[in-house]
Amino acid sequence: MLVDSLQFPPGFRWGVATSAFQIEGATRAGGRGPSIWDTFTATPGRVAGGAHADVATDHFHRYAEDVRLMADLGVDEYRFSFAWPRIQPTGKGIPNGDGLAFYDRLLDELHAAGIEPVGTLYHWDLPQPLEDAGGWLARDTAARFAEYAAILAERFADRVARWIPLNEPMVTTVYGYAIGEYAPGKALLLGALPTAHFQHLAHGLAVRALRAAGARCVGTANHHSPVWPATEADRPAADRLDALVNRLYADPVLLGSYPDEFTEHLPAGFADDLPTIAEPLDFYGVNYYEPQVAASPGAGNPLPFELRPVEGHPMTGNGSPIVPDGLRELLVSLRERYGAALPPVYITENGCGFADEVAPDGGVHDHARIDFLATHLRALREALDAGADVRGYYVWSLLDNFEWSKGYAPRFGLVHVDYATLRRTPKDSYHWFRDVLRAQA
Ligand code: NOJ
Repeated sequence: MLVDSLQFPPGFRWGVATSAFQIEGATRAGGRGPSIWDTFTATPGRVAGGAHADVATDHFHRYAEDVRLMADLGVDEYRFSFAWPRIQPTGKGIPNGDGLAFYDRLLDELHAAGIEPVGTLYHWDLPQPLEDAGGWLARDTAARFAEYAAILAERFADRVARWIPLNEPMVTTVYGYAIGEYAPGKALLLGALPTAHFQHLAHGLAVRALRAAGARCVGTANHHSPVWPATEADRPAADRLDALVNRLYADPVLLGSYPDEFTEHLPAGFADDLPTIAEPLDFYGVNYYEPQVAASPGAGNPLPFELRPVEGHPMTGNGSPIVPDGLRELLVSLRERYGAALPPVYITENGCGFADEVAPDGGVHDHARIDFLATHLRALREALDAGADVRGYYVWSLLDNFEWSKGYAPRFGLVHVDYATLRRTPKDSYHWFRDVLRAQA
């Protein structure tokens, strides 16, 4: 389906993405310390069905099989994350040798398979002791992160092709600290905004620490959504939501400034950190899932906007509107806003969750995912034709995995995981994506 029409420029990089907490399991193995997500999943009522990630997909033990799946798929790159609590079980101090050794094994396996590793340093699994000391509301967490970044680069700079300090700081700020749907579960509303600044500071300090220890290519991975007003009168509210979910994260890193909205909620003296935060990057990662619609807030709403459903589009299995053209719109608008300040872009995540099942014939016939990926790739192709400088695309995700507060119900993988047996079954979308990769010139 549509394979031949999906031609990308020579040298375009294809990949799949995962994160440590969502796939590794083995949360008590090899000296790993507790993270905020271990605490959160153990707190009744936080995660659907009381799910935890003590086993998840057991990638910690099955990484070689998973690398084989990627090699057979034919990807150029694999985006994964290091688990900070494996490397520094308490979030500071000398590294844990067993934790480093796991990533040695993974990286060696990837190299043997000819797949370039793209390492994210932080995909939301903050060591619990750092949260106890204030988490991302504390400036010191940024300093701890720089120390952790130096440890990783000293050990792995020779084998990691591309580095991403933090995944989606917006989600940590909004879901983790503003509305409490994700760990650490704080509902501080706009009082959460210092966590955006301290994550940016952590990012900037880590970029310097990584490069000082030999890292060659350093970027970021930000969540982005086009924001649409519900009606013309809602445009000011849409601008405020756009500031909160997009510009507050891209502007400091790319322009060295904050948007005008919300600066009264940032920590005192924030401007002094901007030169560190705006350290030039080698690439800019975009995670795209869906657009947002905003309306003016009703009386008594403590926030300066209200979210409205995105109407008139099909939905994924977990209620996310499917809007491929949002990806084209986003890439064109990033180019317009940031111009020469925007380095080459990688789509560091794009994908969809459905309740995929193994059929009686043994296959997983996820045609809705094939449609999702094909239409998004076509939108990406249109963005390239419109002048966007996009160099690569990673599907979220290689495997079905732990989808945070939704537990295991939404399955995002190209490969199905039976959580009772941990058996991996490539879905129809896996075979389709392999054909797309093979059809590239
Ligand atoms: C973005 C996050 O980085 C990832 O962890 C999550 O599973 C996907 N979105 C899907 O919701």
